Amino acid sequence: MEQHLLGTDFQNPVLLAAGTCGFGQEVSEVVELDRLGGLVTKSVTLEPREGNPAPRVAEFRGGMVNSVGLANPGARAVRDRRLPWLRDRIRRARVLVSVAGHTPEEFVEVIRILDDADGFHAFELNLSCPNDTRRGGLPFALDPAEAARVVEGAREATQRPLVAKLAPNTPDLAPVIQAVEEAGADGFTLVNTLPGLVLDPETGRPALGAGAGGMSGPALRAVGVHAVWRARSCTRLPLLGVGGIARGPDAAQYLLAGASLVQIGSASFWDPRTPGRVVNWLKGYLGRQGAGGLTELVGSARIPGSSPPTPDSR
Ligand code: FUM
Repeated sequence: MEQHLLGTDFQNPVLLAAGTCGFGQEVSEVVELDRLGGLVTKSVTLEPREGNPAPRVAEFRGGMVNSVGLANPGARAVRDRRLPWLRDRIRRARVLVSVAGHTPEEFVEVIRILDDADGFHAFELNLSCPNDTRRGGLPFALDPAEAARVVEGAREATQRPLVAKLAPNTPDLAPVIQAVEEAGADGFTLVNTLPGLVLDPETGRPALGAGAGGMSGPALRAVGVHAVWRARSCTRLPLLGVGGIARGPDAAQYLLAGASLVQIGSASFWDPRTPGRVVNWLKGYLGRQGAGGLTELVGSARIPGSSPPTPDSR
């Protein structure tokens, strides 16, 4: 079950996704974090953010929408109060800190504030939040040149691994993957939520306080698996798959499509035992697959007309 990538060992390929476990402490009573491969923190911005008006999440048949508005205590409070908890309590799981900002410069400032602290291994750059676009424009992930600017700045600011989290609603992932890889990224997380709107037909009002939001849950899974497969065909960097994973077989689809690690999001809200169950199921599944183990399974889907490159395990 072990995976070596991003310069470290993940004891298994199952992580908690950004925005679903706070900074670890919030879920530590109900999730055995050190049984997992790792966790990604809530996105950290330069200044504290209150977030969007309630309701911030709403369910519908097929999934849920959220618009939290990147509520978080800000980079300095995370460094002083949240990372020490992770440093002292997490031994085996690997921690990625998610970073967000309105400008490339904000990303760099957050990274500079956090970089010297202990308690985490890598940064995940949130280039794709549908609820918080770059100042005056689209999410960075929908503009390859702007996404590359963020990564270039981040690359100069830290030697830690940088994982770029991309959006599902781009006509073609190849240009942004190429630009971001050239700018110095070490891996990709695919995908963030898909823009969505749920309306109450009686009142005509949106289910979320902010109006539209980001859609996740089972309906996102096929989109995410497709994005991983597409990304696998244009980069050798490691991929982290996320979107609609609620059971072991869902995670297996991402691995087959080319993800080396998977992240669990909405399903852990519905049942915090989900990540542990996925780990257990994958153990049995890999046993049934034979000798090659996880590394051989990654990217081994038999899809007509495609032969993806083998992932690089840097
Ligand atoms: O609204 C939010 O905080 C969502 C963040 C994200 O999807 O990246």
